[in-house]
Amino acid sequence: MSERVYIFDTTLRDGEQSPGATMTPQEKVRMARQLETLGVDIIEAGFPAASDGDFESVRMIAAAVKNVQVAALCRALTTDIDRGFAAIKDAAHPRIHTFLATSELHMKHKLGKSPREVMDMARAAVSHAASLTTNVEFSAEDASRSEPEFLAAMCELAIEAGATTVNIPDTVGYAQPAEFAELIRFLLGRVKNSAKAVFAVHCHNDLGLGAANTLAALAAGARQAEVTLSGIGERAGNASLEQVVMALRTRPTYYNLETSVDSEQIYPSCRLLSRIIGMPIPPYQAIIGRNAFAHESGIHQHGMLKDRRTYEIMTPQSIGRAGTEMVLGKHSGRHALKSKVEQLNYRLTDEQIDLVFAAVKELADRKKQIYDDDVESLILENVFRIPD
Ligand code: KIV
Ligand code: ZN
Repeated sequence: MSERVYIFDTTLRDGEQSPGATMTPQEKVRMARQLETLGVDIIEAGFPAASDGDFESVRMIAAAVKNVQVAALCRALTTDIDRGFAAIKDAAHPRIHTFLATSELHMKHKLGKSPREVMDMARAAVSHAASLTTNVEFSAEDASRSEPEFLAAMCELAIEAGATTVNIPDTVGYAQPAEFAELIRFLLGRVKNSAKAVFAVHCHNDLGLGAANTLAALAAGARQAEVTLSGIGERAGNASLEQVVMALRTRPTYYNLETSVDSEQIYPSCRLLSRIIGMPIPPYQAIIGRNAFAHESGIHQHGMLKDRRTYEIMTPQSIGRAGTEMVLGKHSGRHALKSKVEQLNYRLTDEQIDLVFAAVKELADRKKQIYDDDVESLILENVFRIPD
């Protein structure tokens, strides 16, 4: 029996902190509805104390979705928590998410507080949140650069004060997968009341390790992954939902973990986000990029035509894409051309295919990609040309 991992989507909060990714309240509601269809467990809708606009979009999202938890981010301050709760109180499943930094660097230089003061603040904030709802998450900001024993004490006191989820963020994307997994194992063993809460991870992508660190932490026992669609987020972004979910799905015996995400909704969700924020999905992006299911090399195309599992570890349909694309270029082989010609509804003899193949190779040296129109022109020119 595989164990369940909760998917906490923060596209509308951390994702929106991605420079240029601002969304209107209506656009956020549209995205939230799609996230509900996608099947995430928790939507972090925003940071209500940040602005009146953020408050309003969180309130609208809380009213718009029913089958998913709605979280509001709040600093560890009573005023923030009250404002956050006011925005989500009518949600079917509200969650208060409060955070406070626990690394020496942040406590000293950002907060100007001693470790003792930080502990007191966290206890007071979580207790206050727990007096408003039973669904409280506490995040130890910059956890991966915090002193592990102090971090364990912070997790323990947060759970004691009423946190049902404790989050271990790699706020600046500094952690390495094996080291981060070790930290999670250490906390699960050291925090006395760890069984009373879900341990979450929230990994940033500064070194491109967001998804790798998240997966390593899940393998080590964390049970909530905080992710964003397409990996958008502060600076280089967050661990991407599609990479984490599809890694778990593609390697079931390795992880033995499952999520409630309907993977066929992944591509439509990322496309919708891309249209809303006006940022195209890079063609080389894993899983959702244009090239992720496109094959150009002749050897690969030949393998794919015989058995798609040779070069595809998941089907495009499994993430909601139409199909595999055979791209003709200078690396393509005769088999791919033959199948393209048939797709275009031409019946050519082997000699005619040879003629068109030579013409394709010649064109591919001058042009990066060969489109269907090009192939058709080459067929007409080389096979059906009426002599002058
Ligand atoms: O990266 C981070 O530490 C955060 C927290 C607010 C969870 O976004
Ligand atoms: Zn973050």
